[in-house]
Amino acid sequence: MNLKIKTTRLDIRPLTVKDFVAWKQAHLGKQKPKNNWDSDPKTKTELNKKKFSIHIKSLGQVRKSDLTYAFAVFNPSGEMMGEVSLMDVSRGKFQSAYLGYYIFNPHWGQGFAKEAVAAVIKLGFKELHLHRIEAGIEPGNKRSLALAKSLKMRREGVKRKALWIKKKWVDIVMYTLTCEDLGLTYRM
Ligand SMILES: CC(C)(COP(=O)(O)OP(=O)(O)OC[C@H]1O[C@@H](n2cnc3c(N)ncnc32)[C@H](O)[C@@H]1OP(=O)(O)O)[C@@H](O)C(=O)NCCC(=O)NCCS
Repeated sequence: MNLKIKTTRLDIRPLTVKDFVAWKQAHLGKQKPKNNWDSDPKTKTELNKKKFSIHIKSLGQVRKSDLTYAFAVFNPSGEMMGEVSLMDVSRGKFQSAYLGYYIFNPHWGQGFAKEAVAAVIKLGFKELHLHRIEAGIEPGNKRSLALAKSLKMRREGVKRKALWIKKKWVDIVMYTLTCEDLGLTYRM
């Protein structure tokens, strides 16, 4: 299974322990949160090598168990730009996954999210043999909604109180793609 992707401007692949410096620098280079969905800066203690190694190990375990595939996004100079994940993989009669993504805020608005997420969705269908990929987006998250629309994801409706965020249950709008939407045929 090939989990490495090269797009016009990006290298996309699972993180390894060797990426510690790039990961730390990307977190240190973040500006203060630009909206409610942007993450808070990590503290110096969170950015240590031991914690990073534990993080990499757990990403490896969920990948081997076919549960979650997390992909780091790099530019050609090796700068880490963000992360795209296919989570909660469900096999059997579902063959689906839940999409997650973030781009470090100094790089917003330059099409990197679109390029990376489109590539990971394609990999999900072609390499991971998924049939359906869904994203749940809070109605106020304009940037994420714009991204889903620009990826031609289809709006399916609102899932009520579906996500525990900042100490409360929030509604999410479901956007989905099936492999057929990309012109691919699914064979069980
Ligand atoms: C959501 C996120 C990944 C989007 O990143 P981004 O850098 O803005 O995305 P892109 O530059 O690739 O833009 C994607 C599309 O959205 C459009 N867009 C971006 N910001 C916009 C805005 N504020 N208003 C309207 N459209 C916008 C772009 O024009 C592009 O559409 P196009 O290709 O049709 O022109 C980024 O804001 C982020 O990391 N947010 C924090 C984490 C998060 O919210 N994750 C999603 C949780 S559901």
